[in-house]
Amino acid sequence: MTIKQLIDQAKGILLENNLDSDLAIKLYTSLFKVCDWEIIIKSDSIVTEDNILIYENSIKRLLGGVPIQYIIGDVDFYGYTFLVNKNVLIPRFETEELVEHTIYYIKKHFTYNPTIVDIGTGSGVIGITIKKELPDSAVFLTDISKDALDVAEQNAQRLCVEVTTLQGNMLEPLFESKIDVLISNPPYIKETEIVEEIVKNNEPTIALYGGNDGLKYYKEILANASNYLKTRSLLAFEISESIKDEVVDLAYYYFADAEIIVKKDLQQRDRMLFILNNLD
Ligand SMILES: C[S@@+](CC[C@H](N)C(=O)[O-])C[C@H]1O[C@@H](n2cnc3c(N)ncnc32)[C@H](O)[C@@H]1O
Repeated sequence: MTIKQLIDQAKGILLENNLDSDLAIKLYTSLFKVCDWEIIIKSDSIVTEDNILIYENSIKRLLGGVPIQYIIGDVDFYGYTFLVNKNVLIPRFETEELVEHTIYYIKKHFTYNPTIVDIGTGSGVIGITIKKELPDSAVFLTDISKDALDVAEQNAQRLCVEVTTLQGNMLEPLFESKIDVLISNPPYIKETEIVEEIVKNNEPTIALYGGNDGLKYYKEILANASNYLKTRSLLAFEISESIKDEVVDLAYYYFADAEIIVKKDLQQRDRMLFILNNLD
């Protein structure tokens, strides 16, 4: 079978199952590390039996509802390629925006190299990206899941950065009490909320839910953060629009004198909250 025949066959199957037929090409290029143009040039080349098997199995997994990122095993985030697997959340676009704004605030408010902690790091996308962009900062990554931290460590190695990983509940594993920047995309889906099947069936439950009201981890972080933060510090959170008012109230409750800023994502949804604590 030629490359073209294999891909065309897969496109047909995907379409029949109401899936995006472009995934057929994405899957081929990603699995076999080839470029789109190579497929066009080599469209009449014969695919080996082994590769046909690999490809067809991957198409079956897609049809079975597995996200393409878990099948391919990596995702692009902020221009870097991160390994992902079923033990970590698939990084989302809005998290790139959280990282971008946070780097802006760090550059604006810290003249020295800051100490940064990414709480609930998962694949490590937030903390590792910040370390890539601000190589002189000291970055700590924490997660309660050992399996997630394994992925974060592999990503740090892949991307050639030195970060410190710490396993444990929220801030508890931190021994460093001189933190300049705390950033987190904690689990924040309400337990009562209806979640897309593809998310519910594939992504780690521990990465998704933030108690009945979605606020469980914001409360925990905000109540304890001042024990670990310097007087001048920045806190940055991803939030869901549906709990924005409650997270803002919590931020004012624990950081009454701070400047609190909510930012919208590219879709004009309130998705990020920043606490500028004595950062004038
Ligand atoms: C929404 S995911 C975010 C993952 C990653 N930071 C990202 O933005 O793609 C939340 C992460 O928090 C971790 N987590 C859940 N409960 C935790 C806890 N009690 N303490 C520390 N981390 C926790 C999960 O394992 C998961 O990796």
